[in-house]
Amino acid sequence: MRSNTICQKDKPMRTESACWQTWPEAAETYSRLISDLTRDSHYLRSHGLKPNLLRMIGNCTNARLLDIGCGDGWLLDEVRPREGYACDIVEQPDVRPEWKFEIQDIRYLSYPDGFFDVVVASLVLIWLEDVDLAMRQIYRVLKSSGKMVITLVHPYFYRMGEPNSEGNFVISKDLSKPFKMQDLKIGGVAGPLTYFYRPLPDYLNICASAGFRIRQVADWFVDMEDYVRKTKSGMGSKILRTGKVPMYCFIECGKE
Ligand SMILES: C[S@@+](CC[C@H](N)C(=O)[O-])C[C@H]1O[C@@H](n2cnc3c(N)ncnc32)[C@H](O)[C@@H]1O
Repeated sequence: MRSNTICQKDKPMRTESACWQTWPEAAETYSRLISDLTRDSHYLRSHGLKPNLLRMIGNCTNARLLDIGCGDGWLLDEVRPREGYACDIVEQPDVRPEWKFEIQDIRYLSYPDGFFDVVVASLVLIWLEDVDLAMRQIYRVLKSSGKMVITLVHPYFYRMGEPNSEGNFVISKDLSKPFKMQDLKIGGVAGPLTYFYRPLPDYLNICASAGFRIRQVADWFVDMEDYVRKTKSGMGSKILRTGKVPMYCFIECGKE
């Protein structure tokens, strides 16, 4: 079921959002970044993203699960559902052949209605201008008893300010309404990408408008003292790092 092109014949290249053009270019560097055990991305993913996301997904040994925006396919390897599907806008050669990988855009999925027990979209929606399109597609491809789990870079964390001369991080953006940040580089290297900021209630309202019932919302905060002790960029930084900082947000929704 693998396809070698980014643009499927029956699905013309969409240009509404910059993610379509930039993720294919950023993918290789991103994949090197997250597999580098010396980078702080590894610390954040292994301490925050993975355990919390896996807990919210739960046991899927009897489920047909779709991981959208799957990256290297780590999630299916961990969850090991009965039937694992993965898709991404970029070809992902590292996804194991036992999982059914296809190139697909989350906003224009071609899976049948009511096909999946569980759909996961981890760190994908933040790259979309038209999240409501994606949400309606996830709703459509889920069974009536199905659940969706999404992860966001925490809306109240992501590069919302600048360090000042005293080493404090000062929030310099109006976080009460959506905006987009262009030329964003993940870990300072993967990109440039366009990141779409939305306050948390916007995400919850988009889920509800698509028809979802919100079952649980969870945050993960980075313990800055631990981060400074254990990561290179934490130790080398001139920014004063103390306390706990919001990093990821997890949302579980049911179709009924
Ligand atoms: C930050 S990575 C997250 C990868 C993986 N889900 C994880 O949590 O490790 C974002 C992924 O979403 C994919 N992506 C971006 N826009 C997408 C879209 N419109 N449809 C499907 N995948 C998309 C990217 O190619 C990339 O692999």
